[in-house]
Amino acid sequence: MTRFLIDTDTAGDDVTSLLFALRWPGVTLEAVTVVAGNVYLEQAVTNALLTVEVAGRSEIPVFAGCDEPLSRPLVTAHYVHGSDGMGESTFPPPSKQAQREHAVDAIVECANRYPDDLEIIAQGPLTNIARALSIDPELGRKVARLWIMGGANNSLGNITPAAEFNFYVDPEAAHAVLRGRFEAVIVPWDVCVRDGTLLAEELAPVVEMDSMLSRFYFAVNRSAWDFMREHPKGPGVDGVSHPDSLMMAMAIDPSVIAASGRYFVDVECAGELTRGYSSVDLMGFTDQPPNAEIVLRADKERFTEMLIQMLATG
Ligand code: RIB
Ligand code: CA
Repeated sequence: MTRFLIDTDTAGDDVTSLLFALRWPGVTLEAVTVVAGNVYLEQAVTNALLTVEVAGRSEIPVFAGCDEPLSRPLVTAHYVHGSDGMGESTFPPPSKQAQREHAVDAIVECANRYPDDLEIIAQGPLTNIARALSIDPELGRKVARLWIMGGANNSLGNITPAAEFNFYVDPEAAHAVLRGRFEAVIVPWDVCVRDGTLLAEELAPVVEMDSMLSRFYFAVNRSAWDFMREHPKGPGVDGVSHPDSLMMAMAIDPSVIAASGRYFVDVECAGELTRGYSSVDLMGFTDQPPNAEIVLRADKERFTEMLIQMLATG
């Protein structure tokens, strides 16, 4: 089974993704590295430590990384995930602390320890990955696959009309990583919101489950559910979106990818209106060789089946 490192800005949907890696049989999770994004770095580290503990996997090392983007002030998403990123759950503090090593060094070290055998799940702003690439310019060649939840396929963003949150927060990092010669798979926001959102009635089996993990899942996603249903900047949908965990499910079981294609993708860094826009060259206008596999459609039924199966494990 594949060996993973997850880089995360730990909030609701990130937690669900971490639970997949922590609880799915046969998955090897080498490390969790944390980046500022949904919430401030310290809170994201706390949330990651809490999640590995709740999952009964406190042996998994958690590393604190970059607390702000490469060259811009941090933008957070407390309005989506709550002040703690965990649905205002006021959980007790985790019993363990983060490792002393910086997350960026941990990423480089892990990639060199497992050349061509490590898949990185990048589910936050790409700041840590970009900094790791600047330390080891051959990182892209050493990492077997880089999964990126980010961008939108020339479609409506979720923080501006043009941009998805992770690429908006640190567009310079996304721009650099897409030039890093990674075997990159991008799971864009348009696919996540269309094929990865479970409506209230679709979540009924999880409510009935009433397991420790299902209760934790609903707690950490509570604010995001409210946002999806009620917030003026939300889609007005009574359900929970799962961008990061949809990608994690794909990495565990590639059959969740229903359609994909290889295209040249670039990220806008200079634009006022278009900061963080992910330009997907579907028509070959740029004459640039493809630099990523873009997921075009996900198998929602298989994802739902996996989510219910995973939450029932604890
Ligand atoms: O745009 C959605 C992405 O931004 C997800 O990874 C979410 O957790 C936030 O990081
Ligand atoms: Ca995230």
